[in-house]
Amino acid sequence: MSAEAPPQKGSAPIRPQNRRFVYLAAAFAGLGGLLFGYDTGVISGAELFFKNDFSLSVFALEVIVSGVLAGAAAGALLGGRLADIFGRRTLLIFTALIFAAGAVLCAAATSPTILIVGRIIVGFGIGLSSSTVPVYISEVSPADARGWTVSLFQLAITLGILLAYIVDYAFASVQGWRWMFGLAVVPAAIFALGMFFLPESPRWLAKRGRLDAARAILSRIRDTSDVDAELQEIQRSLDQAQEHGNWRDLLSARLRPALIVGIGLAVFQQVTGINTVIYYAPMIVQSAGISSASGAILTTAGIGIVNVLMTIVSMWLIDRIGRRPLLLTGIAGMVVTLGVLGWAFHSASPTGALSWIAVISIMLYVASFAISLGPIFWLLIAEIYPLKVRSSTEGVAATFNWGSNLLVSLTFLTLLQEIGATRTFWLYGLCAIGAWLFSYYLVPETKGRTLEEIEAFWRK
Ligand code: BGC
Repeated sequence: MSAEAPPQKGSAPIRPQNRRFVYLAAAFAGLGGLLFGYDTGVISGAELFFKNDFSLSVFALEVIVSGVLAGAAAGALLGGRLADIFGRRTLLIFTALIFAAGAVLCAAATSPTILIVGRIIVGFGIGLSSSTVPVYISEVSPADARGWTVSLFQLAITLGILLAYIVDYAFASVQGWRWMFGLAVVPAAIFALGMFFLPESPRWLAKRGRLDAARAILSRIRDTSDVDAELQEIQRSLDQAQEHGNWRDLLSARLRPALIVGIGLAVFQQVTGINTVIYYAPMIVQSAGISSASGAILTTAGIGIVNVLMTIVSMWLIDRIGRRPLLLTGIAGMVVTLGVLGWAFHSASPTGALSWIAVISIMLYVASFAISLGPIFWLLIAEIYPLKVRSSTEGVAATFNWGSNLLVSLTFLTLLQEIGATRTFWLYGLCAIGAWLFSYYLVPETKGRTLEEIEAFWRK
C-alpha cells in the first residue's frame, strides 16, 4: 500500500519479499484484533437467546454483558507487563489459547455462572491482545509502513464486529447462541498457529540483550544494509533511556506527556460514545423509526460495513497525510454528527425525514470515528512510548480504554432513561469537542519517524 512512499530518515529501502513477510506478520497478529471485535460484537445477538434459556434477571444479564469488559481491563493491565517479561510472541500464543478456552467454556456453559466465567476469560484474552498486538506490529514494521500495518489491528476489529453481526444473524433462526460463542475457536486456532511460526519482536530481543537473535530476525524482515543502522538506533535508544520498566518510571516527568496523550486518547475514544452504537445499534435504529426487525438488522449490518470501509480509507491515508490531519478531521465529523443525531431525537421517536436524518448521521458518525479515533488511538499508543517501558505504558492506556468502555456501556441505558436521547448524544458531542481540543494541543505527528526518533522527540 505504501510501497511507493519515499524511504524515511533512518530506514533504507526494503526488498519486496521482506515487506511481504512484515505484512504476513501484521496480518496474523491482527487476528487478535478480529477476535477482539468478534467477541465484543457477538453478545448483541447471543443475549437474546441465552437470556431465555437461563431465565436471567436483568442484573445477571448486565454482569454477563459487562464481564467481558472487566476481564479486558484486567488483561490489558497485566498484558503490558507480561509482554515485557515473556516477549510479545510468547504472550500472543498464550492469548490465542485463552481465546479458545473462553469460547469453548461459553459454548458449553450449563449455568449462568459458567457463562460469566467464560466471558471474563474471553475478556482477559481481548485485554491481552489489545495491549500486545499493536506493539508487536509496530516493532516489526518499517517506519514508512507502520501507520497502516498497525491499523490492520483496527481493521481486524471492525471485520470481527461485522463477522459477529453476520454469524448472529445466521444462527438467529435456530437460537444458536452456543454456536455464536463457540465459532471463535476457529480464528483463535489460526492465530495460535500463525504466531507459532512468526518471529519474536527484534526490539524486545535487543532489550533483553539478545542482540544476535535480534539481528537475525531483522535481516529476515529487512534488507541487509538496513539492519545495522536500525539495530544501532535501537541500541542507542536503550542506552539513553533511564527507565527500568517499573511503575514509578511511568509517572516520571519525562514520560508524563506521552502517558497523558495515551490515557487521554484512550478515554476520549470511549466517552465520545462509539460503543453505544456498536453494542446497541439495532435498538437505536429501531427507536429512530426503522421499526421492523429485519430493517434494523440490515441497517446494523450497514453500520458494520461503513466501519470496515472507512477504516480501509484511513489506512490508505495514514502514512500519506499523517495522523494529526486525519484525527482532527474525523473528530470534527463526530462533533457535527453527534449534534445532528441529538437534534433528530428531539421528538421522542423520530418519523419520516427525521428518522432518515438520524440513521444517516449514525452512519457518518461511525465513518468519522473509523478514520480517526478508531485506528489512530491504537496506533499512537504503540508508537509514542520509549522501548524500555513500551508494553507497560501501552497496557496502561489500553486499561483506561476498557475502563471507560465499561463506564459508558453501563451508563448508556440509564442516561437514555434519565436525560433522554438528545441530551445523551449531545453529552458525547461535548466530549468530542474535548477530544478535538486535546488532540489539537497535545498529540504529536509521528508519521514517517522511526520509533527511536519518536522516543528522542519526547526526550527533548
Ligand atoms: C474501539 C472499540 C470499538 C471499535 C469499533 C475500537 O477502536 O477500541 O471499543 O468497539 O473500535 O470499531
